[in-house]
Amino acid sequence: MSPVEYAKHGTVAVLTVNNPPVNAMSPGVPKGVVRGVERANGDAGVAAVVLIGAGRGFIAGADIRYFSRPWPEGEETFKDIIAAFEASPKPVVAAIHGHALGGGLETAMACHYRVIAPAARVGQPEVKLGFPPGAGGTQRLPRLAGVAAALDMIVSGAPVKAREAADLGIVDATIEGDLLEGAVAFAAARGAEAGPHRRVRDIEIALDDRGVFDAKRKEIARRSRGMRAPYACIECVEAAVDLDFDAGVERERAIFEDCVESGESKALRHVFFAERAARKIPGVGKEVEPRAIAKAGVLGAGTMGGGIAMNFANAGIPVTVVERNREAIDRGMATIERNYAATVAKGRMSREAMDARMALIAPSTDYGDLADADMIIEAVFEEMAVKKEVFAALDRVAKPDAILTSNTSYLDIDEIADTIPNRRGHVLGTHFFSPANVMRLLEVVRTRTVSDVDLVTTMEVGRGMRKLPIVAGVCHGFIGNRMLEGYFGEAALMVEEGATPARIDTVMVDYGMAMGPLAVADLAGLDVGWRKRKDAAGGRNPPAERGSHVSTRLCEMGRFGQKTGRGYYIYEEGSRRPTPDPEVDRLAAEAAADLGLEPRAFGDDEIVERCMYPLVNIGADILAEGHALRASDIDLVYINGYGYPAWRGGPMHWAGAVGLDKVHDAVRRYRDALGFGHWRPSPLLKRLAEEGGTFEDFDRENAG
Ligand code: 3HC
Ligand code: NAI
Repeated sequence: MSPVEYAKHGTVAVLTVNNPPVNAMSPGVPKGVVRGVERANGDAGVAAVVLIGAGRGFIAGADIRYFSRPWPEGEETFKDIIAAFEASPKPVVAAIHGHALGGGLETAMACHYRVIAPAARVGQPEVKLGFPPGAGGTQRLPRLAGVAAALDMIVSGAPVKAREAADLGIVDATIEGDLLEGAVAFAAARGAEAGPHRRVRDIEIALDDRGVFDAKRKEIARRSRGMRAPYACIECVEAAVDLDFDAGVERERAIFEDCVESGESKALRHVFFAERAARKIPGVGKEVEPRAIAKAGVLGAGTMGGGIAMNFANAGIPVTVVERNREAIDRGMATIERNYAATVAKGRMSREAMDARMALIAPSTDYGDLADADMIIEAVFEEMAVKKEVFAALDRVAKPDAILTSNTSYLDIDEIADTIPNRRGHVLGTHFFSPANVMRLLEVVRTRTVSDVDLVTTMEVGRGMRKLPIVAGVCHGFIGNRMLEGYFGEAALMVEEGATPARIDTVMVDYGMAMGPLAVADLAGLDVGWRKRKDAAGGRNPPAERGSHVSTRLCEMGRFGQKTGRGYYIYEEGSRRPTPDPEVDRLAAEAAADLGLEPRAFGDDEIVERCMYPLVNIGADILAEGHALRASDIDLVYINGYGYPAWRGGPMHWAGAVGLDKVHDAVRRYRDALGFGHWRPSPLLKRLAEEGGTFEDFDRENAG
């Protein structure tokens, strides 16, 4: 059966694309459209054609799976659809509801006319997949919307709403009532007019100021560091201005094909499917439906609790925040208010919206006020004894079936759950990332005992907060923080070996990280690790070990990082910009002398390998143990919680692109040279390296 249905409504032929779930242009769809246009043109009783989508939207673009597999031999493509529309003497009208994205919008722009439902959105999101539009979008959109607006849409990938599409001239009419009925009436009227009907390709491009291109390059320079696709988009739109239409299309196609083959595009396509896979929990079917969460509670209004309370309010869920005393809760509420006010000041939220959200957050110092909460998140101090006390208190007041979660960074949540045996099925972890109201990642930590319903409900609550929830198992540091150990550890070791903090950070920022590891260490506070080492040494100054010489000395000098204005770097009053400090280089040289290390030069490759390979190696262990459901989940954790560049696809995908055999060889080499625990080769890494596989292969095997 063809995924494109043909029907006649009076003098109008209606082609309905029916390819669930999103009407992607899978094999068979182009053929169906082309055949439909041919049939309409061969029928004297037809005066015009409407192209519409069944289900949720118009057309979501190319079928992204086919960028990594061959398109069936001889099967029609976008090119054939576009040729059929442009050659059609009878006008073709695209009727858009839901979404017209990528090749979907390109198909619509190859029609003679476009009508739209008020709630629909149109856009060219291809850049997010690492390539520019490839079916004429960069040539037609500037002709309809003007060069500057088209450039904004194509380079950002962000869709625009129906209203804006109409204002920009992308669509010809907005249909308020029934879309099909309105589109048929619109098409019948156009069909009754004398042709020829205007084709978008024939519109003259007007551009007064060629400066828009360089201005755009400048505007995106920071956020597009290391990427090709955004620049390729600009190049394509430039071609629309400089070349005639057919030459422009050809140029776009060449750039598009080149980009599709790039590592950047493979990585971004991996991320696209990773995000969809992350919603699925093996063994937990669709029949497990989330419970309704009508009221929530948060314990602790510190750094994390305040942000978590904002997340509930942002999701429209009333939340009670409980602190130890009046002073603490007042301070917490003031911080929340200040955060919202900053968003209002930036013009990103209205004052009314802020007031509405503040009204959803109720301050309290009484646990009893949590009695009607369906879900309570604990974000108090990171101490097992305190956490256990808090859960015991919750056991006394919470509803019998309330979901109780801990925001702990490292503690064993199974152990916490065991202290309230009657509620074990309702206890799990929700590990937010700082700032909790901003960062997209949420690790949902699955305890041994949590019920499927509560797990699914917590994932759903996370999505309602516009987070990306990733299931993690209970282990020290869960997925993200556990993997970091080697990353920070190696950065500190290299400082002792003679690489300056600025050198290491520059290499890692050039690699694509949002910040270098030593700048991050300064931000997080060097004192945290120092105190831990001190505790382990019974409160005395901790003995210097490899990797902690410099940071221990810095802490002894009161240099805790950004909060004291000095750490691995110097920070001017009120500035977060790190300035290198020769004093730190001197401390490093002293440490090297104590350790008997000869200072030496570092290649960029060594810095990247020593920071990144431990992440991958530990990630492989986490995967093999089942503490992550899939390697692609680990990738999403790093991209959304740790400033890892999406265009590299996440550490596990990147390792596959490097070659796991190469990574495994290097891990063994570093183990022999350095010997630290994070260099013990993961058996899974070893197996995949020997098989010539990747972590994606592992994910596929596991998905059955
Ligand atoms: N190709 C193949 N599969 C697609 C797809 C596409 N273009 N778009 C969505 N899907 C799949 C998803 O993988 C998911 O599959 P699953 O159920 O097996 O996990 C399913 O469709 C549903 O997708 P979502 O969960 O994302 O559904 P939503 O309702 O949340 O969102 C959407 C719908 C806004 C259309 C969103 O799916 C989306 O943004 N899709 C991608 C749009 C896009 O990037 N288009 C450009 C493609 S490239 C192109 O057109 C090249 C051209 O220039 C030549
Ligand atoms: P914080 O010290 O800023 O806030 C903790 C708050 O809990 C304080 O305001 C304190 O008054 C309150 N509190 C303590 N005992 C309480 C009790 N019995 N009842 C009610 N309130 C109580 O700490 P932060 O940084 O917010 O951390 C909270 C939790 O989140 C910890 O488990 C931490 O490991 C975790 N976490 C922290 C991250 C961070 O970057 N700060 C990131 C992710 C998790």
